Amino acid sequence: MYFVSSNDNKFREIMELLSSYSPVSLSLKYKKMKLREIQSNSLEEVAKMKAYEAYELTRDKVIVEDDGLFIESLNDFPGVYSSFVFDTLGNKGILDLLKDKKNRKASFKSVIALHDGKKVLTFTGKITGQISEVIFESGWGYDPIFIPENTDIPFGQMDLNLKNKYSHRRIALQEFLIWYNNNNNNNNNNNPNREK
Ligand code: IMP
Repeated sequence: MYFVSSNDNKFREIMELLSSYSPVSLSLKYKKMKLREIQSNSLEEVAKMKAYEAYELTRDKVIVEDDGLFIESLNDFPGVYSSFVFDTLGNKGILDLLKDKKNRKASFKSVIALHDGKKVLTFTGKITGQISEVIFESGWGYDPIFIPENTDIPFGQMDLNLKNKYSHRRIALQEFLIWYNNNNNNNNNNNPNREK
C-alpha cells in the first residue's frame, strides 16, 4: 500500500505511529507527489478526490491525507483553505488575525482516505486546542502556533512521539488501522463512512 503526499513530515509521523502499533503489519511505501486539492467545503471530499487521483497514479492500494485548522473566533477559518492560507498568510498572518481576540480556541482535523482498488473509505481524527500568542521556533506547518488541549506545549516543540500522543493524524490513523485489522482478519467492514 502507498501513502501518497508531497509532505515528508506527514509520512514521518505516520511511520513512527505504525512502528508503535505492533499488532498491525502494514507495509506502507511513500510516493512523493502533489495531488490536486478540489474546491470543497468538506475535508472528506477533498481527501476522497485525492485518493481517486492517487489510485489512478499508482494502480495500487493507497492512502492519502487532508488536514484543516479550524479557528473558532474566525468562524472556522482557515478550515479547508488551510494549505492556501499557510502558503499566503503563514503563521504570522494567523496571529495578526487573532490580535484582538480573547478566544483562541481551535481544532485540527485529519481525514485519511483509503482507495483499496474498489472503493474509497475515510477515517477522521479531530482534536481541540489553542492558538498561541507567539510563534514558537520549531515544527512544520501550523505546529509552531498550535497548542493541543491538556498540555501547554505547542506541537512545534514536541518530539514525534509526544506529538503523536496528541495528534489529529494519530487518531485518524488509528481509526484506519482498526478498520484495516478487522478487514484483513474477517472482511467485516463496519466503517460508517463507507462509500460503495
Ligand atoms: P494539507 O492540505 O492536508 O497538506 O494541510 C493543510 C495545511 O495544514 C498545510 O499547510 C499543512 O502544512 C498544515 N498541516 C497539516 N497537518 C499539520 C500538522 O500536523 N501540523 C501542522 N500543520 C499541519
